[in-house]
Amino acid sequence: MNIYDFAVGQTNPETFPVEAFKQASIRAIENEHEMFNKYHGSLGHTRLRELMAERESKREGVPVDVNQLAITNGSMQSVTLVGQALMDGNDDIVITEEFTYSGTIAAYKGIGLNMIGIQMDEYGMRMDCLESKLAELKQQGRKPKFIYSLTTYQNPTGANMPLDRKKELIDISTRYDIPLVEDNCYGDVHFEGDKVPCAFALDDSPNQIYIGSLSKILAPGVRLGYLLAREPMLNKIVSKRFDAGSNYFASAVVAEFYRDGIEAHCDVTNPVLKHKRDLLVAGLENTLADICVWSVPVGGLFLWLRMPDDVDIKKLTKIANENNFYFANGKGFHVDYKDVPYIRLAFGHVQDHLIEEGIPVLADAIKQARTSNEHRAFDSLY
Ligand SMILES: Cc1ncc(COP(=O)(O)O)c(C=O)c1O
Repeated sequence: MNIYDFAVGQTNPETFPVEAFKQASIRAIENEHEMFNKYHGSLGHTRLRELMAERESKREGVPVDVNQLAITNGSMQSVTLVGQALMDGNDDIVITEEFTYSGTIAAYKGIGLNMIGIQMDEYGMRMDCLESKLAELKQQGRKPKFIYSLTTYQNPTGANMPLDRKKELIDISTRYDIPLVEDNCYGDVHFEGDKVPCAFALDDSPNQIYIGSLSKILAPGVRLGYLLAREPMLNKIVSKRFDAGSNYFASAVVAEFYRDGIEAHCDVTNPVLKHKRDLLVAGLENTLADICVWSVPVGGLFLWLRMPDDVDIKKLTKIANENNFYFANGKGFHVDYKDVPYIRLAFGHVQDHLIEEGIPVLADAIKQARTSNEHRAFDSLY
């Protein structure tokens, strides 16, 4: 029986480079086994740090100094450490997009941060809404501890922030003197169009914090990510880690695997992911164009689907699941866990034929979960 699992955000297992990774593991063990017997401190494996600094320098167009980069256990550790480092127990507010990664919401609420979500449009966080929210807080004598933004191939919406808006974001965070944390863990998963440089590349302030990952382009099981920040910020953040450093063995293997750079691997994986996106969009156009609107992500692993307000999401979930179709409910990505007429479809790991077969199953379920069969009354995603 086929399972249509569009719920979990994972990259494509079919393009995992089994043989090359095996050879890299053998080389790492042969060359570095003596290092496995030591602790390596907060910053991590030197060669991997150099490779990730080179990768960021090339992609983002900024010379990244290896001393500004610390390897972490996935980007999730960076997300959490940043929160812990920047909060002080006194009205701890973090500003995010209204819809953001569910893991970040859980982590930040879990450590006691109050999250304020800013309205979005198809280009990401809306700067007019950010500015008015910060002005309102300032009037109340309140200052957020940081702004956490997913500017690139946003999870869950797929939105990609254009350069002008990113400059505005930097300008606003600078004027209000609030650190800006850009989580760019999907940065390499790029399908088409111009790449916009990260805020860390556009501004040399120590208030710029940047988060990267190897989960989205390679595999989440390697649990490797990294943090970029200038001093004194970098030390402030890594001083919150008490895990005796990241997995040195995994770092050594990945450094061997990417010894000639990361681009050759991206050139294999990204076209495969783009094809999956195309299949998904074609499936939606064929089945749901009259009642739904969705994002067409230019990178990343997610598509955001808006449904008519008369869809009963509980009923939709039940019908879809009974037919082996799984999706992520938009509510889980709302900073206040509000009921919203959205679902997220993660397409990176779904086999092509299951995308083609699965979308009509979803479309039928959405139609059955409505109280009317009217044409949609909206043209935009928000
Ligand atoms: C925006 C964002 N940040 C961080 C993570 C955590 O990823 P990892 O810790 O595997 O790098 C995810 C995972 O889905 C994510 O979507």
